[in-house]
Amino acid sequence: MKKLTSQNMIEMRNLSKFYERKIALSSLSFSIKKGERVALIGPSGAGKTTLLNTFATLIKPDEGELTLAGIPASKLTNRKELAKKVGMIRQQFDLVGQLPVIHNVLAGRLADWGFFKSLWSLIIPQEKQAAREALEKVGLADKITEQTSKLSGGEQQRVALARLLLQKPEIILADEPVASLDPARAEDILFMLTKLTQEENQTLITSLHSVEYARKYFTRIIAIKNGKLFFDLPVHEVTDPILVELYSLEELELHES
Ligand SMILES: Nc1ncnc2c1ncn2[C@@H]1O[C@H](COP(=O)(O)OP(=O)(O)O)[C@@H](O)[C@H]1O
Ligand SMILES: [Mg+2]
Repeated sequence: MKKLTSQNMIEMRNLSKFYERKIALSSLSFSIKKGERVALIGPSGAGKTTLLNTFATLIKPDEGELTLAGIPASKLTNRKELAKKVGMIRQQFDLVGQLPVIHNVLAGRLADWGFFKSLWSLIIPQEKQAAREALEKVGLADKITEQTSKLSGGEQQRVALARLLLQKPEIILADEPVASLDPARAEDILFMLTKLTQEENQTLITSLHSVEYARKYFTRIIAIKNGKLFFDLPVHEVTDPILVELYSLEELELHES
């Protein structure tokens, strides 16, 4: 029994988050096991970003319990320790545009940018080699010294992936990582993200706009609507009617607006 529990990378019980006029997350309970690939879907405003930011400990829940890789989220206050547990990529990439690609990748090694910049000249050659290898893995070997902001959106997202390869967190969170990319680039990033995390047996939770991508690249789909769990199913059990229901406007909303 104990062993089973330790396999849970995310465990949450009755987790809620309230804003002044809004219940963003309403008593959510579920767990996610090591190595699972979960797509988080639901209409705009459902609470996907709030939930991912809660997993990243950027948002503190108002109620309930959250355990990340066996540690209560409230105890994960050390940034370096946290970076070993959880890494995140977003729609807007979060890279430092003026710096060369390799600097952004190496930032995966350190939790703190200020510290990192002051130490740049002291970074050991092995670390730089690891960054080069990560960039090779994502197909950017020729862009190592390029200024990051000069890269295309798809390439910048690959830099973010390379940074995660160096950080090697146990849990990877991605908030709409392909929302700003065209379909071909989006598929490319999702293919890489799911392949690389599988190779490291990492746990992946990605919010997505596209149900098609969720079905193609993930093993489990968790749907939320109005901050509540709408369904939590293995991919092959997600039917078209339930998806229509998920994205349909509620009668009440229609009358109110
Ligand atoms: N900082 C905030 N202050 C007030 N309300 C917020 C804040 N962040 C999110 N919300 C509200 O919480 C709900 C969930 O938002 P969000 O998690 O961004 O949804 P999603 O990512 O699924 O589109 C929305 O109604 C949103 O307006
Ligand atoms: Mg969002």
